[in-house]
Amino acid sequence: MNLEEVQANWEKYGEQDPLWGILAWPDKDDNRWDRESFFQTGVEEIAEVLAYVRGLHVQIDAQSALDFGCGVGRLSQALAAHFQQVHGVDISSSMLELAAHYNQYSDRCQYHLNTTKDLSLFANNTFDFVYSNITLQHMPPRYAESYILEFLRVLKPNGILVFQIPSAPKRRARKFIQPLRPTRAWRAYQKLRYGDLPTMDMYGIKRDKILRLLVSNGGHVLDVQADDNADTQWESYRYCVTKASND
Ligand SMILES: C[S@@+](CC[C@H](N)C(=O)[O-])C[C@H]1O[C@@H](n2cnc3c(N)ncnc32)[C@H](O)[C@@H]1O
Repeated sequence: MNLEEVQANWEKYGEQDPLWGILAWPDKDDNRWDRESFFQTGVEEIAEVLAYVRGLHVQIDAQSALDFGCGVGRLSQALAAHFQQVHGVDISSSMLELAAHYNQYSDRCQYHLNTTKDLSLFANNTFDFVYSNITLQHMPPRYAESYILEFLRVLKPNGILVFQIPSAPKRRARKFIQPLRPTRAWRAYQKLRYGDLPTMDMYGIKRDKILRLLVSNGGHVLDVQADDNADTQWESYRYCVTKASND
C-alpha cells in the first residue's frame, strides 16, 4: 500500500462514515455517532494525556500543538482549549472539510492537507506539543517511521511528543489476524468481504525498533506505556519523548 492508496481509503471514510472511521465503536457505524458525544471523547482523551505528561514532572509550554492525523478535529478541538495555536494535519480532504465545519476556534485552530511522507509544511522547532493517536497504525511502517522523525524535527527543544503505535499482534491473536504487513491474500479477502468499503488495515512497529529510532535521532524517551488504543488484538504503546535543547 502506498500513500496514494492510504489517502484514497481515508477519503472514502470521510465521505461514507467519517466519525465511525475514526472511532469504530461497534454500535456507532452507519453514521450513528452523535457529534457531541464524539467530541466529548476527545476532551476526555486530551485531559488524560496532559495529566499523564504532568505526572512525568515535565512542563509543556502552552503556545503551539500539532495533532497529526487529525481527522475531523476530535483531538485538535480539545487541544485548542489548552494551547494558543493548534495545527491539525490529515491526508484526507473529506475529513478536513468536516474538521473545518466543526472548528469552534477560528484561526487558533488551523487544518492542513498533507499528502507527502514528510511534514515539510512546518519549520524545525515549531511545536511545544506534538500528539498523534490511532493514526500511525493505519499506514505501512516506512511512512510511520518517516513521520516519527518529522515529529522530532518540528518539536521545539524541550517540547513534548506523545504518540501511539502498535508493536505486534498479541500472541494469542497472531494466527487469526493479518500479519504485520497485510498480504495480497488478506487484501483480496477483505475486498471480497467488504466490497468497495474502505479498509481498516493495521500495522505495527516493534517497540525496540521505535526506541532505537527515537534515540538515534535526538529523542530522549521519558516514558513508554502499554495502551489499549489499537484494536484489542494488538499490543500497543504510547511513547512520551522530548528533545534536547542542543540539537
Ligand atoms: C482513525 S483516524 C484518527 C483521527 C484522530 N487522530 C482521532 O483520534 O480523532 C486516522 C486519521 O489519520 C489520517 N491519516 C491516515 N494516514 C495519514 C497520513 N499519512 N498523514 C496524515 N493523516 C493520515 C486519516 O485520514 C484519519 O483521519
